[in-house]
Formats: sequence, C-alpha cells, structure tokens
Amino acid sequence: MKIEGKHALVTGGAAGIGLEITRALIAAGASVLVVGRDRAKLDAIRNATARVETFAADLADARERERLLAHISAASPPLDILVNNAGTMQYFALTGPDAQDRIDRELALDLHAPIHLAIALLPRFLERPEAAIVNVTTGLVYAPFGNTPGYSAAKGGLHAFTRSLRWQTRNTRLQVVDLLPPAVATSLTARYDGPKISPDKVAAALLDGLRTGREEVRPGHTKALYAMSRIAPGFIFRALNKQADKVPLD
Ligand SMILES: NC(=O)c1ccc[n+]([C@@H]2O[C@H](COP(=O)([O-])OP(=O)(O)OC[C@H]3O[C@@H](n4cnc5c(N)ncnc54)[C@H](OP(=O)(O)O)[C@@H]3O)[C@@H](O)[C@H]2O)c1
Repeated sequence: MKIEGKHALVTGGAAGIGLEITRALIAAGASVLVVGRDRAKLDAIRNATARVETFAADLADARERERLLAHISAASPPLDILVNNAGTMQYFALTGPDAQDRIDRELALDLHAPIHLAIALLPRFLERPEAAIVNVTTGLVYAPFGNTPGYSAAKGGLHAFTRSLRWQTRNTRLQVVDLLPPAVATSLTARYDGPKISPDKVAAALLDGLRTGREEVRPGHTKALYAMSRIAPGFIFRALNKQADKVPLD
C-alpha cells in the first residue's frame, strides 16, 4: 500500500503506541483522525501536527462508537485505513467480587470496539482503491498472561477475528493486518519490569508491513516469542507468566 495521501483513523492515537503510529502515518504523507477520551492529549497532537483531526469518545461505550461512526460518515475525505489500537490491560484475580464487571469492561474496549468499527466501516473500505484494517493485538496471543484474564480473552479473540476478516475479504483489495507488539514502554506496561522496546519501533514496523503487504507484523521480541510458542509452548508460557506474576494484582 502507498501511505501518502491516505486518510486514517487511529483509535488511542494521542498516546503510547497509537501516538507513534499517528506520527509515522503523518510523516509518510497521510492525514489522521485521532480518537481518544483525554481532550488535553487530543488537543496537544492536533496543535502540534499538520493533517491531524481529533474526536473525543469513550470507545468502550457502543453509543459513543455510533457517534464516531456518524461523524465519519458526515466527514471527508473518506477513510482508507483503520487502526484499532485503543486498549487497556488489567491485572486482577478471577475470584474478586468485581471480576465479571472487569472482564465485561475490558472486552468492551479491547474486543467489541475494534470488531464494531471494522464491521461498520467494511462496506466503505471495500469500495476504496486501496484500504487497510489494522488490529493491534499482542505477542501475548502466543503465550497469554494468566493474571490479565480480560486482556488475554480480548486479544486472543481479536487475533482470531482478524483471521476471519482476512479470510472473508481475501479476494478484495482490503489489507487486513494484525500488529502484535512485544512489551513496549508505554503507560500500559508501567508496572511490568521485563524488557521493553520503544513505541516508535512498533510504528515503524507497522508502516513497513503496510507498505509491503504483510498480514502479521511481529516487531522486536514477538518474532522470538512466535518461534518459541511453536517449539516449546509450555516452557515459554511458564517463563513469561513467572515474570508477569511479579506485577501486583489490582
Ligand atoms: N504497551 C505494550 O507493551 C503493548 C504490547 C502489546 C500490545 N499493546 C496494545 O497496544 C495498544 C496501545 O497500547 P499502549 O501501550 O500504547 O497503551 P497506552 O499508552 O495506555 O495508550 C492507550 C490508548 O488507548 C486510549 N484509550 C484507552 N481507553 C480508551 C477508551 N475507553 N476509549 C477510547 N480510547 C481509549 C488512550 O487514550 P485516552 O486515555 O485519551 O482515552 C490511549 O491513547 C493496546 O491495544 C495494547 O493492548 C501494547
């Protein structure tokens, strides 16, 4: 795909990995609609960057997602790229009194929101000369953390949904990309003290994947994690969970 001149929607595009994806798309000549809740962060990216528009919405709420979709329908230019990046990762015990509520909230943002946006935008994307849907999952789909049950369920589900979407659109011009970052130095991993890469490296890998037509983009340690999960799945699952067990539960 040629990035220059494309119009992208990046959810959670004003912080962390999403911010670097926004910057990389802009540097490559695209325009970006950035969605998030924090208006101060949205204003900061809009004021600092040409070709950026913003829209404040809580994507965990289906009505807010409908409001965003109405805004997209009314606006121009038409979208060519959707980056489903907004997400949260919570460490909690399944025996806690609020475990079900926490799972529901996490599934709403990390699973239902990206699926909702992808399905709603799909008909329009299929009419574009070139288009891409990028779902940001995680290298942990190969070895999920036991102490982040909502995240593990959501990302595993989104990884599988992404494969379904790719299969059903295989004879179209739509590129369906799964971006599977390793641990990245953002606020999401503040309490995890394993090795982390910088978010700009993840964004650079995604841009490269979009340009070269990759289906799964595995930056940094995710490549090794993928290989290990095939060779010694039990070993890598236990090793990663020993590291993750050091993070206190909420
Ligand atoms: N960091 C990692 O190690 C890592 C590894 C693998 C995958 N990932 C994935 O990468 C994605 C980005 O994570 P990150 O590390 O960049 O996290 P982050 O720094 O915490 O950023 C999360 C982004 O999501 C937005 N967001 C959170 N809740 C939202 C909501 N309810 N509605 C709309 N936007 C919301 C935030 O914006 P507002 O606060 O303004 O809403 C923020 O822009 C996530 O899907 C995450 O699972 C991260």
